[in-house]
Amino acid sequence: VGDLKEADLKGKRVFVRADLNVPLDGDLKITDDTRIRAAVPTIKYLISNGAKVILSSHLGRPKGVTDKYRLTPLVPRLSELLGIKASLFSQVEKADDSIGPEVEKKVAALPDGGVLLLENVRFYPEEEKNVPEHAQKLAALADLYVNDAFGTAHRAHASTEGVTKFLKPSVAGFLLQKELDYLDGAVSNPKRPFAAIVGGSKVSSKIGVIESLLEKCNILLLGGGMIFTFFKAQGLSVGSSLVEEDKIDLAKSLMKTAKDKGVSLLLPTDVVVADKFAADANSKIVPSTAIPDGWMGLDIGPDSVKTFNEALDTTKTVIWNGPMGVFEFDKFAVGTEAVAKKLAELSGKGVTTIIGGGDSVAAVEKVGVADKMSHISTGGGASLELLEGKVLPGVAALDEAVAAVTV
Ligand code: 3PG
Repeated sequence: VGDLKEADLKGKRVFVRADLNVPLDGDLKITDDTRIRAAVPTIKYLISNGAKVILSSHLGRPKGVTDKYRLTPLVPRLSELLGIKASLFSQVEKADDSIGPEVEKKVAALPDGGVLLLENVRFYPEEEKNVPEHAQKLAALADLYVNDAFGTAHRAHASTEGVTKFLKPSVAGFLLQKELDYLDGAVSNPKRPFAAIVGGSKVSSKIGVIESLLEKCNILLLGGGMIFTFFKAQGLSVGSSLVEEDKIDLAKSLMKTAKDKGVSLLLPTDVVVADKFAADANSKIVPSTAIPDGWMGLDIGPDSVKTFNEALDTTKTVIWNGPMGVFEFDKFAVGTEAVAKKLAELSGKGVTTIIGGGDSVAAVEKVGVADKMSHISTGGGASLELLEGKVLPGVAALDEAVAAVTV
């Protein structure tokens, strides 16, 4: 992808696609501003280099224009984080549309260093359908395109993919570049030994990630509900734990692949079992080989944590995706929190620690060690697809844009 630092920005209208898809509560208050904060370095760089910033994002999955999906509630926080109140303007300017005469007028009035936030790009169905004429209208607003929306890079939409066909140069923002550096670069060429920790309730949703990481890692640690399918594949009794019967053969073949490739695959040696799926369930710790009938495993046990920690102590790079247990229930959050703490400790010793999106991010935040990690992905679906080795359309479009310039 092209380098933003090489772009000529002074006085230029820059169309920035960010992923400002943040959660809002019933009063339209932002409940987690991580994605806005993550978008700030690129926007600040553009401001300080005298660009006119046309900022765009989606929010949620609206069907047509819907007030609760307007980007208006984001303006105060964005202005505050950009320090705009204290500098050039009173706040980020907001348009009520993403194309059309009102937007064009506001773009024309933007001073160098000004920021105009467009309305939710998904108010037009043409956005998700990636209609070329629509992408062309977005492109016509600006002189160059910066994609910083990693969380939406797995979508081939008008503002993430189509627009690059009409707006050159098209380059990556700092967040997108950082995500690629870690989730692709550091994972494909890791400092070794390289451990992958994969959790989550179902093996079916992590097949691609496990298969892809087995090609790259030295150690694979598995946790979460998916382990019971692996236990069953080993002929163990799993009580009433979650098992995907149709994935037992797959679990066997993944274990064989690990063996063939010399990857050390570690499954938990003990589990916390419960008498029901509830926060107040009765629970006890049992060896993985002795799960009683009528009990279900909801977390990894202390012996497993110890074994996992010993394995992790040998590593130079670790990637983590998916919780070790039902961490929404405090009683079954111990294993997941132990992994978060261990990775924070390893980061302090110079190990590259990458949190690959989704629930593991929530766990790291819950434990309060988010700032310790080398990288925490802002993507959910996008991180998974990248870790599975899939091509992200938003990224491929930027690569093509570079190729088109260099040919
Ligand atoms: C996300 O939250 O994963 C991204 O913002 C993408 O949203 P989407 O799944 O609605 O495309």
